[in-house]
Amino acid sequence: MSPLWSAADFSDAIAPCDQPGALFDIEGISIDSRSVEKGDAFFAIKGDRFDGHAFARAALEAGASVVVLADAQRSDFADLSDRVVFVEDVLSALERVGRAARQRVKGRILAITGSVGKTSTKDALRQCLAPSGKVHAAVASFNNHWGVPLTLARMPSDTDYGIFEIGMNHSGEIRVLVDMVRPDIAMVTTVVAAHIGNFDSLDDIAAAKAEIFEGVVPGGAVLVNGDNAFGDFLVQKAQECGLERIYRFGSDAAFDSCLTSATLKPDGSDLDIALFGDDYSVHLAAPGVHLAQNALAVLSAVHLAHGNVRAAIQALGAHQASKGRGERHELALETGNALLVDESYNANPSSVEAALKVLALGADQDHGKLASVRHIAVLGDMLELGDESASLHVALKETIVTCGIDRVYLCGPMMRHLWDCLPEAIKASYAERSEGLIDPLKADLQAGDVVMVKGSLGSRMAIIVSNLLERYKN
Ligand SMILES: Nc1ncnc2c1ncn2[C@@H]1O[C@H](COP(=O)(O)OP(=O)(O)O)[C@@H](O)[C@H]1O
Ligand SMILES: [Mg+2]
Repeated sequence: MSPLWSAADFSDAIAPCDQPGALFDIEGISIDSRSVEKGDAFFAIKGDRFDGHAFARAALEAGASVVVLADAQRSDFADLSDRVVFVEDVLSALERVGRAARQRVKGRILAITGSVGKTSTKDALRQCLAPSGKVHAAVASFNNHWGVPLTLARMPSDTDYGIFEIGMNHSGEIRVLVDMVRPDIAMVTTVVAAHIGNFDSLDDIAAAKAEIFEGVVPGGAVLVNGDNAFGDFLVQKAQECGLERIYRFGSDAAFDSCLTSATLKPDGSDLDIALFGDDYSVHLAAPGVHLAQNALAVLSAVHLAHGNVRAAIQALGAHQASKGRGERHELALETGNALLVDESYNANPSSVEAALKVLALGADQDHGKLASVRHIAVLGDMLELGDESASLHVALKETIVTCGIDRVYLCGPMMRHLWDCLPEAIKASYAERSEGLIDPLKADLQAGDVVMVKGSLGSRMAIIVSNLLERYKN
């Protein structure tokens, strides 16, 4: 097998640099010494908390063939002369390698942004394109100033489909990242209140998402969510970028791809879709109307990328929700089974609403037969919502009530506002921190229950999930 980067290509890609020693072929790219594999090039990136230079020697010990370090640190690494490349700025060097990776790939590049659903869409797209060719996509979100160049630099030269998630917390960030990715197809999942803390309005968020169009290659295509309030705005922005191949997906028959009908079931959905003039029946293994919308976007992208749509539909029939984003686990209680839905990776008003709706659908058929099935929501704070945060938490009450959620566990200072206004009959327990919900929840769990755990990553709801799995995983 040829290496990810031959010594010569890597050396060209990373220039300008100072190479005290000979370069080796590069098998992979790493920025974390703990996951370095033999033959990797380790880039000593400076993060918020750590400086990669402190781990450069550990990376070499772990098998890295070369470490990329900053000139300014040269005196500390004089003894490593044959396995080190010095550059003025390490992140810029990674970006140069990323750009070179993009340039050498002949396959199609897809970029995904949006307020929610980027990773879910990316993961589904990866599965859906796999039957059509060699796919490259990041294992996690990797959607920021280091994640995007890292994912690019890791892209093999014979990639048929490269899939990139592009995120942002501030305006201007997507512009910089998409300039590296230069997608053939750019998609915007949706624009809703998420990370709104850094923005004055949703309009500003939509404008920031629209930056993705600036990097689309000439003749490239754009996919936007026609159902979203900002659909027309995004179309206009894409036109302003000189793009002509602009497509909408959504529930209107006038859109290029349309969800004509959806039967939402606890264990998946059955959809009828019209995709660029062709009708298909689609079964999704992962439940929820939000995943049905994502699936429509994914299949539209497969079509635009000239992938095999029928093979993609088959893949969706087996595709599960991504880790921490709706992943399902059976819990073996003493009295019988319960179902745990792990939504602990992320939360904002839109995704909590989506998850509550899935919870309302219940569990699979077996659970549904139990008369005692209870729908339990365990929610932690949604972070980064700025001044509106308290009222956005309170606003969840309506969805909780209309979805008929039976019991609600809440934690965190923002969820306190919701707690204070929930109907007494559904209030189970409140705690300041997620740990505080574990024991009351365990004491309450019954066979047949469906429990959905959700919160922003910083609310640490994952510890509830891991605790339940440790105790009850069968
Ligand atoms: N289209 C959608 N609308 C609302 N929520 C969604 C959508 N797609 C996914 N979600 C939910 O939003 C949360 C974050 O999903 P994820 O795919 O990680 O988004 P991102 O990568 O944009 O942060 C998860 O709980 C997921 O189930
Ligand atoms: Mg993500």
